[in-house]
Amino acid sequence: MANSDYGLVIGMMMAFFLASFVSADPELLQDVCVADLASGVKLNGFTCKSNISADDFFFAGLAKPALTNNTFGATVTPASVQQITGLNTLGVSMARIDYAPGGLNPPHTHPRATEIVFVLEGELDVGFITTDNKLFSKTIKTGEIFTFPRGLLHFQMNKGKVPAAVIAGFNSQLPGTQRAANALFASSPTVEDAVLTKTFQVGTKEVEKIKSRFA
Ligand SMILES: *[C@@H]1O[C@H](CO)[C@@H](O)[C@H](O)[C@H]1NC(C)=O
Ligand SMILES: *[C@@H]1O[C@H](CO)[C@@H](O)[C@H](O)[C@H]1NC(C)=O
Repeated sequence: MANSDYGLVIGMMMAFFLASFVSADPELLQDVCVADLASGVKLNGFTCKSNISADDFFFAGLAKPALTNNTFGATVTPASVQQITGLNTLGVSMARIDYAPGGLNPPHTHPRATEIVFVLEGELDVGFITTDNKLFSKTIKTGEIFTFPRGLLHFQMNKGKVPAAVIAGFNSQLPGTQRAANALFASSPTVEDAVLTKTFQVGTKEVEKIKSRFA
């Protein structure tokens, strides 16, 4: 083999390994594998069911705004493999998020997916924080798009006077959501106060106060 051929082979091998490291969900081994959510068999994803129809690939749940009269003034409506069983093994999913004026989707991460949001209506202040604690933030409005890289802490807030909504896309059938505040202050069993007082450099009273807000 000529030197340039070796270069090509090494390049192709590198591309292959890179592709296998950056892809989110595993590769598909068949056309479809509609999830049998009721199956008790545990594996990476869900077992396939045999009697499938177009409805396994359909969901109307993002068509209308969700109610936002909750603590944070924001509601996430997922369209993942748990709602659309046909998404099993396909490596994609969506969600709709509605925000009341002042509404916040509090800081959280998706361990298995990058997220890309398209603003349906209104205006949002959005941002993500990298592992070296740099904040990348922006105000986005109707028709605009913003991206939250996989695994990084991010948030959206509606500082406008009217409701806002986004459609989100994910490169995982089940992105998973871990909210920072809930994970630390509302886990079950609870994280002990000694860990939280030292982490946040505050007293037990402050920690207990935050815990009670999530109870
Ligand atoms: C397959 O599912 C349909 C409804 O989705 C049902 O009418 C039909 O009886 C099922 N067939 C079998 C073989 O289970
Ligand atoms: C939100 O509003 C709906 C309808 O207006 C009502 O049924 C529901 O109880 C409210 N939820 C809360 C948490 O206030």
